[in-house]
Amino acid sequence: MTVSACTPADLDDPERHASGEVHQLWRWMRQHAPVHWHEPGDLPGFWSLTRYDDIRHAYQNPAVFSSGQGVLLRPTALGEDPGSGLTMALTDAPRHRALRGQVADRFSERCARSLAAEMRAEIRSVVTRAVEKGTCDVVHDIGARLSSHNIARLLGVEPDDREQLLRWSTEAFESGKPLTSHVPLMRYFIDMMYARMEIPADDAMGMFVNNEVQGDLLTETEILLGVENLVGASENAGLSIAAGVLALGSHPQQWQRLVRERDGGLVRTAVEEVLRWTSSATHSMRTATVDTVVQGRRIAAGDRVVLWIPSANRDESVFTEPDRFDLGRQPNRHLALGTGEHVCIGSTMARHQMRMLLETLVDLVAVIEPAGDMEPLRSITVNGPAYATVRLVARGR
Ligand code: HEM
Repeated sequence: MTVSACTPADLDDPERHASGEVHQLWRWMRQHAPVHWHEPGDLPGFWSLTRYDDIRHAYQNPAVFSSGQGVLLRPTALGEDPGSGLTMALTDAPRHRALRGQVADRFSERCARSLAAEMRAEIRSVVTRAVEKGTCDVVHDIGARLSSHNIARLLGVEPDDREQLLRWSTEAFESGKPLTSHVPLMRYFIDMMYARMEIPADDAMGMFVNNEVQGDLLTETEILLGVENLVGASENAGLSIAAGVLALGSHPQQWQRLVRERDGGLVRTAVEEVLRWTSSATHSMRTATVDTVVQGRRIAAGDRVVLWIPSANRDESVFTEPDRFDLGRQPNRHLALGTGEHVCIGSTMARHQMRMLLETLVDLVAVIEPAGDMEPLRSITVNGPAYATVRLVARGR
């Protein structure tokens, strides 16, 4: 077997993901080992799916591929995910549907539209500040700030507290520890939870606290794990934004095309291409509920199955020239936001935010260029830059 320097055993090596070598490996696996067994080590044993159709099939058959035992690979030493069986992402039907329904209104198209003016004003102010600084760290100054403020807004965090929340969640994210282990952050959410018990409110925290699920209110643990689930999952949006701005900086012809064709509908296809290209969620995990066969390989009940999302999104049997960043790509049925019952609940919000960001960049910025240090994240769960310095040059200078 020749897979350059990289073999399927390296899939659990964050360095291979950080260097981008993993794309070469996934390309080889899609062709030669699309359903591959990864022997246990620090991580439990798992099957890898790398082809688009197989990944889509697993997402769309939750009765066979369950989310209830966790959706991310965790070192065996850590034991089961504390949210297993308790939060929206980590439950199966019918509980999953009920938990999703509890807060769904906050993530609807109607809600996104009602927040659009506020979101656009914030994006404009964040981009203006970055342009005035000349160079900025696209991760902290743009991506994380926009995604953290957005989830804070949905949860009902007071505007004055949003910068503090950003600092706490940046710390938690950088340390790689679960948000629940970060005392000030959790204390803040605990106070907010009790406040909503006293005075109900029409925000996601109010819905967690006051809307019944299958006839009962959630326990305090379920509420706090639900909040953590939302805050953690929304980090993906910040990474996609940061990696998307970087991609525009390193593809000047695509950026010029966006500027020229903004009014011709290119922004709509550009949003989808940025999501496909950046694929900031690296994997989803499932557990087989029964024996099943994929591409002739027998997966036993109880086996873990890992769906490698960026691999699906570069599958050459689905995407023409998948390694080309093409803002006009159509069709573009990427799986960056998952699909099926667990499809990203934040997807409407994430798409609106990305569209407004692209429009604002076109309005305010003439040139986007890499301007110094850039460090990739070392993770098998999310991918994108850890930090990256870019220069945004104002239009008209
Ligand atoms: C570009 C941005 C985003 C990407 C790439 C992304 C990616 C994903 C993916 C791949 C899934 C499916 C997971 C699975 O099936 O196991 C998912 C689910 C989820 N996402 Fe996102 N996400 C993004 C933005 C957001 C935002 C902004 C929020 C919150 C405001 C959010 C909250 C969630 C939640 C709660 C789920 C679980 C839904 C369920 O299990 O029913 N995501 N996301």
